[in-house]
Amino acid sequence: METVLSGIRSTGNLHLGNYFGAIRNFIKMQHEHNCYFFIADYHSLTTHPTPEDFHRNVRQVLVEYLAAGIDPEQATLYVQSDVPEIAELYLLLNMNAYKGELERCTSFKEKVRKQPDNVNAGLLTYPVLMAADIIIHKASKVPVGKDQEQHLEMARTFANRFNRMYRVDYFPPPYAFNFENKLIKIPGLDGSTKMGKSESEGNAVFLADDPKSIRKKVMRATTDSGPQKPGEKMSQPVENLFNLMKAVCSKDTVDYFLQEYKNATIRYGDMKKQLAEDIISFTTPLREKILEIDADNEYLSKVARMGAEKARESAGKTIREVREIIGFRSFY
Ligand code: TYM
Repeated sequence: METVLSGIRSTGNLHLGNYFGAIRNFIKMQHEHNCYFFIADYHSLTTHPTPEDFHRNVRQVLVEYLAAGIDPEQATLYVQSDVPEIAELYLLLNMNAYKGELERCTSFKEKVRKQPDNVNAGLLTYPVLMAADIIIHKASKVPVGKDQEQHLEMARTFANRFNRMYRVDYFPPPYAFNFENKLIKIPGLDGSTKMGKSESEGNAVFLADDPKSIRKKVMRATTDSGPQKPGEKMSQPVENLFNLMKAVCSKDTVDYFLQEYKNATIRYGDMKKQLAEDIISFTTPLREKILEIDADNEYLSKVARMGAEKARESAGKTIREVREIIGFRSFY
């Protein structure tokens, strides 16, 4: 049985990109594999949230994971900071992670561009913490979206480096995973190719959005002036809408609008109306579940405690073995 792990940073509500990129794949696997799913709250500290926002976001992600269908009896669902062994492995892996390779990481370069006043060491070593998250449970399959591909490559590098350095075959190399055999990227509504939490207003559809705001966001989505003649090449924003449609609409609906596009008879207003209604059909049961779980503090506390215990058991075993391999010996 393989070990599967995935996680989400607690920086805000979950959106369709998180769902289709990571959660959906994970849900499909949770009954057959040894599965871990966690809330990356240490990671979220790189952007300096206030204590109130910090806690509220962790709670929100926990609620939304459960609403999306992660079963805490099947998978181990936990908060990263409840497992301090992860921080210890992060420290140990940092000794073998080099400045040059960390500086070359695309997501680091992007953060340097976006937040030049806050280029902290946590940002630089973000991929090391992510590697620690994964290999602490010796996970080999990691359901993630396309944007995490390079981080997974780095996690493999750190796992292999540890094995080589200590001449052991201890950590299995982890791989990014998606059922469709290719990692996906759900586009935003604002014409950008990625739906994301920290993108512009109106970029993302959140699982907790109500129908009115979904309609408003989708109707405002960026398009173009429409194809002038049959067979015209699609612009990026329109291609984005079709890609979103492929995630939430039936194949017949997608084919219908594709044909309309090819004939140059498409009306983007009709396409958006259909897309908005299909997104609403998809998210409504999730939103109802979110509201239900959000009101149940007792259940949330039970889930978090159970997850922390199970995760610490597995993480504790790894840390004991890693300490032994590295050469820590107790004097007492
Ligand atoms: P985060 O919180 O940015 O995103 C969580 C998951 O959602 C996926 N995702 C998307 N997939 C497709 N299309 C999109 N537009 C889209 N936006 C987000 C991401 O690929 C990811 O799978 N560093 C991670 C959190 C993390 C983690 C880990 C993940 C920390 N440690 C260990 C896996 C394993 C992150 O910031 O994801």
